[in-house]
Amino acid sequence: MSELAIETAGLVKVFGDNRAVDGIDLAVPAGTVYGVLGPNGAGKTTAVRMLATLLRPDGGEARVFGHDVLREADAVRQRVSLTGQYASVDEDLTGTENLVLIGRLLGHRKPAARERSAQLLAAFGLTDAADRQVKNYSGGMRRRIDIAASILKTPDVLFLDEPTTGLDPRSRNQVWDIVRIIVAQGTTVLLTTQYLDEADQLASRIAVIDRGKVIAEGTPGELKASVGAGAVHVRLRDASQRPAALEVLTKILGPGVKPDADPVALTAQLSGEDSDREAAEQASRALAELAAVGITVDNFALGQPTLDEVFLALTDHPATEKEVAA
Ligand SMILES: Nc1ncnc2c1ncn2[C@@H]1O[C@H](COP(=O)(O)OP(=O)(O)O)[C@@H](O)[C@H]1O
Ligand SMILES: [Mg+2]
Repeated sequence: MSELAIETAGLVKVFGDNRAVDGIDLAVPAGTVYGVLGPNGAGKTTAVRMLATLLRPDGGEARVFGHDVLREADAVRQRVSLTGQYASVDEDLTGTENLVLIGRLLGHRKPAARERSAQLLAAFGLTDAADRQVKNYSGGMRRRIDIAASILKTPDVLFLDEPTTGLDPRSRNQVWDIVRIIVAQGTTVLLTTQYLDEADQLASRIAVIDRGKVIAEGTPGELKASVGAGAVHVRLRDASQRPAALEVLTKILGPGVKPDADPVALTAQLSGEDSDREAAEQASRALAELAAVGITVDNFALGQPTLDEVFLALTDHPATEKEVAA
């Protein structure tokens, strides 16, 4: 069995009468990216803050590389880093100035701090922005300098709390590449996210959290298999062709094809056993067949299951924000 970087048993945090974290068990293998997936208010940040020793648990246990977060908090702090918390960058300083300053605080001599700073800025695509004040960075650049600052001293465990929320697709991809570099260097990454596709891209295992509880756990493949491989969305030019399109799509994609409320649209839910590649092949065959029988398609999209679809499959309710008792 592989070593566990993080292990929790019945972890609880209560705010008033709100059980923000309500008995969470986690086992995060060392050297992997572990995804914690859940909507706003699910308890992700609260759980991460307890693991990083910033918040005291009200019940249960948590260990980081075998060290208890309460009794051995110092040993835990030696091994973990949390973006935007320990390594807060100064808006008025440049990228280089920030990283060199933190390097010096970590005890590096100036030449070593400069060298590490230059390496990280290059690795994160920030060389051109090295001498600009951080307050002039874009959202994506800001997220990347935050992560760079948090790994100046390579941590054994890095907590990335929603590192791509609000970023455009290009910046998201850059952050994903950085996460891959970090884990390849041996750091264990605990990544919280609201996006199934992000967890799917990066994580080897995922825990789905809803209202302070783990409601599903497994590999991305296992999770998607329990939810379905996604859906094909089709928009026709002409509503009168919809019955014919329904027949063609049902023949190729099976019984999960349904007309939408919009009279020109249809959605086909793909079955869970299909791999992503099979799903793409089925979808392209369906498109070809529609064209072959003379049905005009205005729009055709193959979508991964969304967080809402995951929650509907697992809980019978969409991924709504947690309601807090007033
Ligand atoms: N410091 C706090 N005081 C009171 N309630 C809090 C505090 N931090 C979080 N909460 C509540 O705990 C629940 C979980 O929040 P959080 O862990 O931030 O969720 P997430 O990070 O998944 O969005 C929410 O209902 C939130 O309002
Ligand atoms: Mg949060």
